[in-house]
Amino acid sequence: MRHPSGSFSFDLVIFGATGDLSLRKLIPALYQRDAAGQLESDARIFAVARASHSDDEFRAIARGALQEHVPAAELNAEQVERFAARIHYLSLDASHAGDYQRLAAALDGGPERIVVFYLAMAPRFFGAVCQNLAAAGLNRPEARVVLEKPIGQDLASAQAINRAVGHAFPEERIFRIDHYLGKETVQNLMALRFANALFEPIWHRGVVDHVQVTVAEKIGVEGRAGYYDQAGALRDMIQNHLLQLLCLVAMEPPNAFSADAVRDEKLKVLQALRPLTERSVATHTVRGQYRAGAVDGVAVPGYAEEVEDHATTTETFVVVKADVETWRWAGVPFYLRTGKRLPQRRSEIVVQFRPVPHLIFPGVASEMVPNRLVIRLQPDEGISLHMMTKVPGPGGMRLRQAPLNLSFADTFRGRQADAYERLLMDVVRGNPMLFMRNDEVESAWRWVEPILAGWQAQGDAPKPYTAGSWGPSAAIGLIERDGRTWHEDMR
Ligand code: BG6
Repeated sequence: MRHPSGSFSFDLVIFGATGDLSLRKLIPALYQRDAAGQLESDARIFAVARASHSDDEFRAIARGALQEHVPAAELNAEQVERFAARIHYLSLDASHAGDYQRLAAALDGGPERIVVFYLAMAPRFFGAVCQNLAAAGLNRPEARVVLEKPIGQDLASAQAINRAVGHAFPEERIFRIDHYLGKETVQNLMALRFANALFEPIWHRGVVDHVQVTVAEKIGVEGRAGYYDQAGALRDMIQNHLLQLLCLVAMEPPNAFSADAVRDEKLKVLQALRPLTERSVATHTVRGQYRAGAVDGVAVPGYAEEVEDHATTTETFVVVKADVETWRWAGVPFYLRTGKRLPQRRSEIVVQFRPVPHLIFPGVASEMVPNRLVIRLQPDEGISLHMMTKVPGPGGMRLRQAPLNLSFADTFRGRQADAYERLLMDVVRGNPMLFMRNDEVESAWRWVEPILAGWQAQGDAPKPYTAGSWGPSAAIGLIERDGRTWHEDMR
């Protein structure tokens, strides 16, 4: 419930509370929202995990997580204590239905109270936990459930999860997180497209040559080897984050800024993706795995050493050339690229426009660079439009490319909220716009599966690349074969 002051009363239950996601993202995000005054004085957090801890022991763990993951300047001792007092710990075996009675007894706020169940655990538990919640009568009208990605390993497992969770909760109360949708700049993409008259008239195959979506990371698997080695970059990043970005670029303008209007348009894009065949997987995808190298001058081990399995064929880098088969986008490839242990942390969307149709300036053909719109998602969030301009001075017409740059940090001062802060509060508000609907998740798997199958049929290993490089040379070859190049950071 929202109070006149603008803050909310709710109980939030974190399953998997002692895990990495909870301590690194959820607890810090809740602290920040508390500090911003959005948590009503009676809002409570129930940390649930199997290990046995007292409230005080877990509060100490939470304080440690805040020390580690919240910048010191944003930590205030009094505020930390007020926040810690909201936390209660419950030791519970999530697969044991009998244990949920204790949870039901703790959630004593009555049927009107908003209760959020956040499942920060492996997806194979989602169905059973939801069924156990329902059996204990906890799927009340004001209860919502939050599922972390990945939803399953493939289409069949995603459907099974959606079915099982759907038996316990109606779709409008199931919040499937893709934290990229909570990022400020990702939402800004919608503002850019639909709050400006400038871009929509040129947002199509007549003017756009191609689109690049890159999510590059410097980090390796960071202690998540068990999960990552089963998933790989295609399942971990392309199936969700990169496809969601593609959808926001490619979708038709929704008729309203409402959850279903936006998600209906994204779904149409996913359904319009040309399925890859065994043959096109060979020409339209590249997968790589990093070998030992150096990132920022620091030596790092190879992926196989990190996961302690020299035979692993899990990909840590992927490029996919995707085609959206619609009137708007026919013939405009979307190049998706993501990888770990690359030289920069850089997420961006590049919309590359076509060259001018007729050049009137003599002797400048080699200097001409077609316009390019670069949407920087992180770091240094902003937008730049690369344009041709005249080099100042007399002596004829010389041209050079220069960016028109909008830096969010310079334009909007102040701290930027983390994606999880926004998404958690959207769950409390009951606004599912920035969450994936079941049909979106399943459509994304439908497109990803033939790629997995194609790789398996090829039977070869991912191509090696040195940590600290931009992936295997085949990734450059794939785009250069089309007469194009990857965008280089030129700010
Ligand atoms: C997660 C992936 O969803 O996103 C991680 O599982 C990845 O492997 C992370 O590192 C990237 O998120 P961000 O917000 O750091 O770009």
